[in-house]
Amino acid sequence: MKIFVANFKSHQTARQAQDWINIFKSQFHSMPEKKVILAPSFTNLAIMKERLRGIEGIEIAAQDASSFPPGAYTGAVNAHQLRELGVFYCLVGHSERRRWFHETHAEIANKIRELVEQDIIPILCLDKDYLDQQIAALEENWWQGIIVAYEPLSAIGTGQPQDPEEAKKIAIEIRKKMPGIQSLLYGGAVTAQNAADYLKDNFDGLLIGTASLDPAEFLKIIYV
Ligand code: PGA
Repeated sequence: MKIFVANFKSHQTARQAQDWINIFKSQFHSMPEKKVILAPSFTNLAIMKERLRGIEGIEIAAQDASSFPPGAYTGAVNAHQLRELGVFYCLVGHSERRRWFHETHAEIANKIRELVEQDIIPILCLDKDYLDQQIAALEENWWQGIIVAYEPLSAIGTGQPQDPEEAKKIAIEIRKKMPGIQSLLYGGAVTAQNAADYLKDNFDGLLIGTASLDPAEFLKIIYV
């Protein structure tokens, strides 16, 4: 099974999300060996969920979740709320969250706990520089069954993908340090031209930012 996650980041109004889905739906056909996960902003989760109803092989994901349970935490969207919307996946610890919102390893570990308790599968984003610190912050074996996305900082949003051989070395290291993860994805400047290089071996899928904003380009990546 190969997994393709589209991370729309803080792009797309509700109208733009609907336009994206309309184009995507008109060209998408389900494949039993491929799973597509779309991660829009919170405001577009329900719209996307509704528009994708009945289409096999596509799920939605949130881009973040609160590190707290439901309660007096103004502005926070918690795992219970996501679960009720039918969200079964959630990105956590994306490098942009770490960089611009100063998320700590401990906070990210709390988010993972909240999500797992609601049966939402976290997609934990990691770079090798903080791999060990992030693992240390997770409660014992909390990575079992989650999805990990290896995203080198030098590649995210830069258009400069990491050399697949270099990425392969880190993939081997991650699998050794985190036995039992459900899947390992590569993310960072993925395009239709380079996608196959990462899917050949070691990676179970891709996390796609910039190239996912164009539904035609995203479809090309899925069909490589
Ligand atoms: P990119 O982003 O594909 O634009 O490099 C990937 C990501 O941030 O997940």
